Amino acid sequence: MGKIIAIANQKGGVGKTTTAINLSGCLGVLEYKTLIVDADPQANATSGVGLNPKNTRNIYDCLINEIHPKELILETGNPNLDILPSHIDLVGAELEMINLPNREQMLKKALEKVKNDYDFIIIDCSPSLGLITVNALSAADSVMIPVQCEYFALEGLGKLLNTIKIVQGRLNPDLEIEGIVLTMYDTRLRLANQVVDEVKTHFQELVFDTVIHRNTKLGEAPSYGETIVMHDASSKGSINYLNFARELLQKNNLTKIGNDDKIIEINDEL
Ligand SMILES: Nc1ncnc2c1ncn2[C@@H]1O[C@H](COP(=O)(O)OP(=O)(O)O)[C@@H](O)[C@H]1O
Ligand SMILES: [Mg+2]
Repeated sequence: MGKIIAIANQKGGVGKTTTAINLSGCLGVLEYKTLIVDADPQANATSGVGLNPKNTRNIYDCLINEIHPKELILETGNPNLDILPSHIDLVGAELEMINLPNREQMLKKALEKVKNDYDFIIIDCSPSLGLITVNALSAADSVMIPVQCEYFALEGLGKLLNTIKIVQGRLNPDLEIEGIVLTMYDTRLRLANQVVDEVKTHFQELVFDTVIHRNTKLGEAPSYGETIVMHDASSKGSINYLNFARELLQKNNLTKIGNDDKIIEINDEL
């Protein structure tokens, strides 16, 4: 039975999609069968793994038209990595869902049909706390929160944590916080270290040890439709996300034979 992790933060540009794509790509390379669910009408995860979001049937069809997700899921060029693609139509889905019974549980209902086919299902949320994100949190076993190493890093997190609490109270009592991952760390900026310290002081053991550095390869990989580990396996971005995937596996007491290599020391400048 796969673990469903929602990557959420209502702030845009904090590294949700980059984390969703590359964590999934690394889990795939580590031989964990993984599905990315693109729950953002901007469809960046869909195009980021090399698919044209205009040409595919998509998540809208399984939410609104109750099409079996297996009919909509596509393979990517990356090993062990499938995607349930998104489309700009998903904006309309939010409005159409408002009057449906169980409107917060539509994605959960859909993903239950494929949960057994994967080791991990990673949901890339949109930068909002709207109905689709509530659906993602209702469907998920846990939520991962990317936080960018910049000014006002903690801004908005209170609101997100409050939404998580409401979902835990009313819709999904088993929802856990998987953790916080610090993204776009820039070794040259003293501010970045201050943000790391501040976030660790606030959230302590919830913060993953692996910090994702700013790395230009991470920005360019989606334009090739490749996850970082396929695009440039030796780049800092690839090593960071592989370490992040391994840390996630360790936290979940999962390691496959041959994959329990030591976490590569790259965060030594922290
Ligand atoms: N670690 C990183 N290094 C360099 N660029 C990054 C990194 N993480 C994200 N980016 C870039 O920052 C922008 C926003 O990231 P994205 O993952 O799309 O954020 P979100 O999904 O939260 O809106 C994108 O252009 C992405 O390529
Ligand atoms: Mg995004």
